[in-house]
Amino acid sequence: MSLLIGLFDSGLGGLTVLRQIQSLYPHSPCLYLGDTARVPYGERTPEDIRAIAAEVVHWLRLQGVGVLVMACNTSNALALDVAVAEAGVPVVGLIDSVASELSSDRIGVLATPATAGSAAYGRAIHACRPTAEVIEVGCPAFVPLIEAGNLEDPALEAAARGYLEPMIAAQVDTIVLGCTHYPLLRPLLRRLLPAGMRLVDPAQAAARRLGPLLGNLGDSPEVDLEDDPIDPPRLLYRYCVTGSASGFAKAATRWLERRPRVERVELRTPS
Ligand code: DGL
Repeated sequence: MSLLIGLFDSGLGGLTVLRQIQSLYPHSPCLYLGDTARVPYGERTPEDIRAIAAEVVHWLRLQGVGVLVMACNTSNALALDVAVAEAGVPVVGLIDSVASELSSDRIGVLATPATAGSAAYGRAIHACRPTAEVIEVGCPAFVPLIEAGNLEDPALEAAARGYLEPMIAAQVDTIVLGCTHYPLLRPLLRRLLPAGMRLVDPAQAAARRLGPLLGNLGDSPEVDLEDDPIDPPRLLYRYCVTGSASGFAKAATRWLERRPRVERVELRTPS
């Protein structure tokens, strides 16, 4: 029996993490929760982010997930301990996963204001590379514009120019996409950045870290089940949101290249 992988984010962003997991472990069932009623997380207080994480992770635990992937950097930065305490299963974070794989000493991190304000990336990177220079920039405009669905919106480019300026001035050679929404901006960022700049998506490191856990906990991610066809995606992957199901399905179609079946769920059990 395959373990159910639970993932959560405030909205669409965590789908970039889901896609990395799907490509490495195509037979593993996943439950995705987008807390769209409360997006964006990145401008909330740390207390709020921690309270939300407790509620979301509790709900995922009730659904029987066997391993939890924090598909949201903001929750990872401010509430990893809350998730670990609440999950009752192994928890994979983005920040530690990528920090251990970076190979530069001039690193920029683009993130939500809450993540950048927490300095969690700086701490995690310095734990692995004490001499690294790390510049963390909060990008308040990105998530609302990405959730609005128009990646060609000129406001995105104007905002990106401003956020990248201090990184270019600091001559970083590596930029970590420290919010799971940002991999969708890769083409725009590439256009604005000097050639040769490395753009790192932490989801790749997190997905790799998941492999041994799936193995240890009884799954067989490396096995090629030729006689055992993959379930239709709607059975293998369950998509839940706290806001509009049809709105999410429509927006997610572009990210997943097919329209997902989405359920609206209540995280709190009515008393
Ligand atoms: N995608 C999330 C992250 O990685 C949250 C973005 C938000 O809701 O502000 O931080």
